Amino acid sequence: MTQTTRHWWQSATVYQIYPRSFADSNGDGIGDIPGIIGKLDYLRELGIGVIWLSPICASPMRDNGYDIADYQAIAPMFGTLDDFDRLVAEAKARGIGILLDLVVNHTSDQHRWFLDARSSRESRYRDYYVWRDPAPDGGLPNDIQSTFGGPAWTLDPVTGQYWFHQFAPEQPDLNWGNPELRADIYRMMNWWLDRGIAGFRMDVINLIAKEPDRGITADGPKLHDYIQEMHRETLAGRDVMTVGESWSATPATALLYSGRDRAELSMVFQFEHVMQQWHETWGKWQPKPFDLVALKRVIGRWQTALADDGWNSLFWGNHDLPRAVSKYGDDKRYRVESARMLATVLHLLKGTPYVYQGEEIGMTNVPFSSIEQYRDIETLNMHRLHLEAGLPEADFITGANENGRDNSRTPMQWNDAAHAGFTTGTPWIEANPNYERINVAAAEADPESILAHYRRLIALRRTLPLVIDGRYTPWLEAHPEVFAYTRTLGTQSLLVIANFTARDVTIDIPAALRGDWQPLLDAAPALLRERATLAPFEVITGLADRSF
Ligand code: GLC
Ligand code: CA
Repeated sequence: MTQTTRHWWQSATVYQIYPRSFADSNGDGIGDIPGIIGKLDYLRELGIGVIWLSPICASPMRDNGYDIADYQAIAPMFGTLDDFDRLVAEAKARGIGILLDLVVNHTSDQHRWFLDARSSRESRYRDYYVWRDPAPDGGLPNDIQSTFGGPAWTLDPVTGQYWFHQFAPEQPDLNWGNPELRADIYRMMNWWLDRGIAGFRMDVINLIAKEPDRGITADGPKLHDYIQEMHRETLAGRDVMTVGESWSATPATALLYSGRDRAELSMVFQFEHVMQQWHETWGKWQPKPFDLVALKRVIGRWQTALADDGWNSLFWGNHDLPRAVSKYGDDKRYRVESARMLATVLHLLKGTPYVYQGEEIGMTNVPFSSIEQYRDIETLNMHRLHLEAGLPEADFITGANENGRDNSRTPMQWNDAAHAGFTTGTPWIEANPNYERINVAAAEADPESILAHYRRLIALRRTLPLVIDGRYTPWLEAHPEVFAYTRTLGTQSLLVIANFTARDVTIDIPAALRGDWQPLLDAAPALLRERATLAPFEVITGLADRSF
């Protein structure tokens, strides 16, 4: 990629905020927009250029806002439209753009379109949703399952038809085949864009073109027609960034969304590296042992496939995933070392890095012991289904503590005051008890903290074009304990060699990598000989006038 075609979001780092859990300004136990405004200076110092806000629109909060009841109103618990406009302006004054979460595969069942649609088959909004007659025997139209467990169809007794929902029944799927629905969505998007937002993160965008009669949920035949139309009607001519969530994306389909000749999205969130860790049948509730070779293979494939066209998103965590340091590192003995190592490996790849709130201080998974402590609709549903299937509860809790969505949703840990300084009231979900040690105030006081390391990495991306544009070359691909790669731009290269284990690991250094490397971050200059020994979770980085 040449300089001239570079977009602003290719050198930016994005920070994801889960508003409910970030900062509570009024003591009701729920994070809010004024709370976020109060932390903007913290985010500016971190160096990020974009905030992705998980949904803030009016919602009954069955799925914490991923069930929107009014696309043009702010949920009162989060604040007002004035608060939002102030957030956009205050963020902008600090060089930070705001990405909204566009949840348009489905609405809440409390959205006025759905309330009207279910009132009668003649409603003008009936066709905004997906309705089907019962099967001849009166049963479900077909056997498609919802992501949160149970059938994807629920019978409406008033009108005698089933509605389709890929998530909870309270999240009815929108019918993108209806042009009026699409026009309403585009009008709404333009209304937000005109308020000065920096773009959208698009929730499960790969699902919008479902064709349930053909058993198609993801990647329907019309998907890219719809996204191209959306682009024409809303994004075209605006310098915004967009990232589409697609659990089904492969490197080939990622180019359909983000290739340079495709007027669609800036990039997608891809999940192959996440799912590679899951059980074939039981998914995330029965995690597989960590396999570094497989992880490297997936990441390397994406780096290579999108080297010259398209663009990668880079992330270890988000609000649906466990804490990065717990999943890929060692959240006990080597929490600081492994969190720093993971950050280095991710942030020096090619793409736009995303930091999930709390990751920058090494927040960990929660040690919940009872189902009463969980709040997440998916976890609670799956718990019920597992018990109904006769599986032991203890196994479920183990799986939930490892991979459940509440791991990332506990309050942001600001300091060692009660509830981690998140609220003066009672938080909607318990804080992780380790907040007394792991918090922003402690990290700010320590120049070797994970936070300090994130600040350096994010700043480096802004100053060293090699980090943005450099070509990725993998090394030691079959090594089960070490992740190694170089990035090259012109005659300059950077090097990353990371130990993913809690043991000393001695490796043979490939001949081409031997010799002197200048310091890249805070490290000392490295002289690589035939062999090197890395301490637990150590990462060697360096910069040199070489080309690979
Ligand atoms: C996405 C969101 C997730 C939500 C789901 C339904 O996967 O990230 O949090 O539950 O879509 O909207
Ligand atoms: Ca609040």
